[in-house]
Amino acid sequence: MAVFSDNPVLRGYWHAVARVSELPAAPLKRTLLGVDIVIWRGPDGSVVAAPDRCPHREAPLSAGCVNDGVLQCPYHGWEFGSGGELVRVPSALPGVPVPPTGHLAAVHAQERYGLVWVCLDEPVAGVPVIAHDVDPAFRRINNPVEAWTTSATRLTDNFMDYTHFPFVHTGTFGRAQDTVVPRFEVEALSEGWYGFQYEVDVNNPDTAKTISGQDDEVLHRHMSTGFTLPFAVRSTIKYETGLEHILLLLTTPIDDVNCYFTFVVWRNDDFSVSAEEVIAFDRMIGAEDKLMLERIPGVLPLAQTGVVSVQADKGSVEWRRQFAALLGLR
Ligand code: FES
Ligand SMILES: [Fe+2]
Repeated sequence: MAVFSDNPVLRGYWHAVARVSELPAAPLKRTLLGVDIVIWRGPDGSVVAAPDRCPHREAPLSAGCVNDGVLQCPYHGWEFGSGGELVRVPSALPGVPVPPTGHLAAVHAQERYGLVWVCLDEPVAGVPVIAHDVDPAFRRINNPVEAWTTSATRLTDNFMDYTHFPFVHTGTFGRAQDTVVPRFEVEALSEGWYGFQYEVDVNNPDTAKTISGQDDEVLHRHMSTGFTLPFAVRSTIKYETGLEHILLLLTTPIDDVNCYFTFVVWRNDDFSVSAEEVIAFDRMIGAEDKLMLERIPGVLPLAQTGVVSVQADKGSVEWRRQFAALLGLR
């Protein structure tokens, strides 16, 4: 039995599982909360997500192919269209209707922020809000969706924590940061995010100068870091030049100890730097987190007494408190 990933509460939330740009290569196979799903773009243009199991003899549909939006099972060629509807059985005599129980039990799927989001049950909440997405001053840059060998609990805890910066992010931005964390309040932020705001000095190595737009070796940032349950974290960075860099950090549990991770960036820059250059530094930062987190086995203990916390951990402690409550663990 899983610790958290089979909790039915999580099936009511939207989870990012793929980039929209991957859909032409469909069918895509993903595992969400322990459930294998197949994803493709149907004949009506909408994204379809369904259990990756053919109703006929249980072949994985993700091993099949998509032609004009119709997904064909690789075993006996049954075909599924918009909404997962069974539209053709190749062995059937002309005029014989398809069996009504042969339709796929499609789950909810939608596109947002360049990503495919899936919800396995009736949604209890929307996709997390990033208001900058409709602000013409900001451009959006997407990243690949990667599978990481770490628990979604540890990754989300990590994103709500900035005391690891001077230790984990020494190869990127973290060396200049004071290890001492001033007192801060955990509070409601804008657009439904919950977290904290802080001021921090960061290193600005040569690899970062293009995207920070500044030459100084150390820069000052005003930041906010907040979560929306269950696993979304928004980190906003504002430089003294007015440049803003918004990160949406998305963790999706494959199971208890494996997850998908991707991040989306919004920036109010002048577009003079390529998208690849903008995200290269953030990807280096992510690699530092990945190296650390993949060394830590298992699920983050969800009981507050399961690990020791200090004042500076208030943000991640609050996420864990609300997450445990969401799961009905207290
Ligand atoms: S198992 Fe899919 S068509 Fe037979
Ligand atoms: Fe980090």
